Amino acid sequence: MAEYRKVTHQFSAFVQVSLQNLRGWFSESSTYTAGGRDLRQPEESLHHGYLKVIAFARYSVPMCGIVGYVGHQQALDVITEALRRMEYRGYDSSGLTIVEDGTYATAKAAGKLQHLLDKLDENPESFSGHTGIGHTRWATHGRPTDANAHPHNSFDGTVSIVHNGIIENAGALRAALTEQGISLRSDTDSEVAAHLLALAYNDGPTAGDFKASVLAVLAQLEGAFTILFVHVNHPGEIYAARRNTPLIIGVGQGETFLGSDVAAFIEYTRDAVELGQDTVVHATAEGYSLCDFAGNPVEGKAFTIDWDLAAAEKGGYDSFMMKEINEQPAAVRDTLTGHFVDGRIVLDEQDLTGADMRSFDKVFVVACGSAYHSGLLAKYAIEHWVRIPVEIEVASEFRYRDPVLDKRTLVVAVSQSGETADTLEAVRHAKEQGAKVLAVCNTFGAQIPRESDAVLYTHAGPEIGVASTKAFLAQVAANYIVGLALAQERGTKYPDEVLDIWTELEAIPEKVQQVLACEEQCLAIAKELGAIRTMLFLGRGVGYPVALEGALKLKELAYIHAEGFPAGELKHGPIALIEDDLPVVVVVPSPRGREVLHSKIVSNIQEIRARGAKTIVIAEEGDTAVEPYANWLIRIPQASTIMQPLLATVPLQFLAAEIAQQCGNEDIDKPRNLAKSVTVE
Ligand code: F6R
Repeated sequence: MAEYRKVTHQFSAFVQVSLQNLRGWFSESSTYTAGGRDLRQPEESLHHGYLKVIAFARYSVPMCGIVGYVGHQQALDVITEALRRMEYRGYDSSGLTIVEDGTYATAKAAGKLQHLLDKLDENPESFSGHTGIGHTRWATHGRPTDANAHPHNSFDGTVSIVHNGIIENAGALRAALTEQGISLRSDTDSEVAAHLLALAYNDGPTAGDFKASVLAVLAQLEGAFTILFVHVNHPGEIYAARRNTPLIIGVGQGETFLGSDVAAFIEYTRDAVELGQDTVVHATAEGYSLCDFAGNPVEGKAFTIDWDLAAAEKGGYDSFMMKEINEQPAAVRDTLTGHFVDGRIVLDEQDLTGADMRSFDKVFVVACGSAYHSGLLAKYAIEHWVRIPVEIEVASEFRYRDPVLDKRTLVVAVSQSGETADTLEAVRHAKEQGAKVLAVCNTFGAQIPRESDAVLYTHAGPEIGVASTKAFLAQVAANYIVGLALAQERGTKYPDEVLDIWTELEAIPEKVQQVLACEEQCLAIAKELGAIRTMLFLGRGVGYPVALEGALKLKELAYIHAEGFPAGELKHGPIALIEDDLPVVVVVPSPRGREVLHSKIVSNIQEIRARGAKTIVIAEEGDTAVEPYANWLIRIPQASTIMQPLLATVPLQFLAAEIAQQCGNEDIDKPRNLAKSVTVE
């Protein structure tokens, strides 16, 4: 019954928020506030007749980049710079609030950060001050408008907040606030937090007490959130709270930073603090203190950031993505470093014992998007080296399918960000079922590694381009390390065999470096292709995940329909798509490895050429058999079958980037509708 009530309550909240959400599609008005006053008039509420129409709509959910600053510098400078660096987390809208001398100024704007900067230029003197909060937003539903952009300010102009996550009971809270005569100005779930804090601070048992008021607000919120609060009566202070979404503290000299990730403050300090669940931060210029949601003191975990500002800047490239493609030799090399010591594979931090590693009778890999493609390659490698069944599942499907898991199952969760909500929930589900979880992650201290039994960090460095490139290659390398660790522990490979494979892996960065030389050729191909509407990608064996990854890159960057198929499936349907001049990329396996696969794919190329397709063939040096059938031939260095994906993926990244630019998408770092960290399901 209780569960039924909860579901009913959530559904009614969902419908109410959805109704609000719909307003965003019909009315867009600009919000600009100064001196703590919102200059915009509240909109009229929508007629309830819309209710039926939006019954299947979802929340207007931000999942975003957050920054807070308090210290000796002008907060505006620090925050706008941080937003610029965190824009990859979301770029539907952005905004900031600066607090000073009993008042605050807020500016926010839909669209890219430049829109906000233009607004700030109109009135820079209003934004002087040493404490501020900022936000860059990615909305899953609800039109990105100025009104929906953060920060959100309280009805009385005393409180300003930014939020990342979902306040699940926002519908009920909005209704309660409306009953008290408070007009809500946005369609978001977030705005309630500002009004609730003002109410708690203005009156009742927590009146005049900033901390107690924040705790009182947190007690009313359900869901996942990171929220930063500022109050006009407390310039020089920021309260922040996190539950299930990221927040890191940066500790400077006479200044304190808060950020969704370290990119927010890497320019100023490398001393950072990671926080546990349900932690409240009180930040001032002098430092910070922490407590839980009940107000009891808690500790954070200090760490030093091991990458610098240059790693987060473009370094002379036109885009972060191009820089990151070119950083792949280092990304793979750094990921391998330190994992082969005295003839043995070693993993990172872990609570998994050798006995655990020997006890597993099944491996599940869970991940999303490109990380999922890296997991497909893990399946090939682990089954081949360890002779243990490996299942690979898209994380969003995993826990709803009731997979068979127990304490003898190893779940490998692969995630660049370590924040992806679907993967995180899959990890939690796996742990509930008693399985052991090993995270492969690129972000130190992120939630997925924190909740896993073991972690193997990829050392790709910060990946700013939204489309994954270097993180993907690093994930493949890390997955192979996991496979080798299992093979070694379970004795399915002799030490000399492990050494041989390791030696091949160590040679990969140099070979990736050689592949980078194909950039010019990819640009020429993209130009010759001109305007295309669709493109197919074919592979066999380990070439199939490469084909999927190539198709995904093209879709997300060039907004072109693209599909990856196992080449053998072609004649079971997809061959009907082949028509004159259709570009088809074919990833050809080494003739020296699985000769049978090589000759089969050569037949496939002939079949599609016979039907008019134009072929872009990726084949290793010395493979002459493919030459007669290639309209364009991109050469990659020779490598063993299992290593080839680490090389064959690179030309597909270049191709996607160059085709995207030929198709008019200049900003390949920020493809439309996407965000770097997908922290909602
Ligand atoms: C594609 C891409 C996404 C991510 C996916 C998982 O280029 O970047 O498909 O791979 O969203 O993200 P992480 O690895 O952060 O869990």
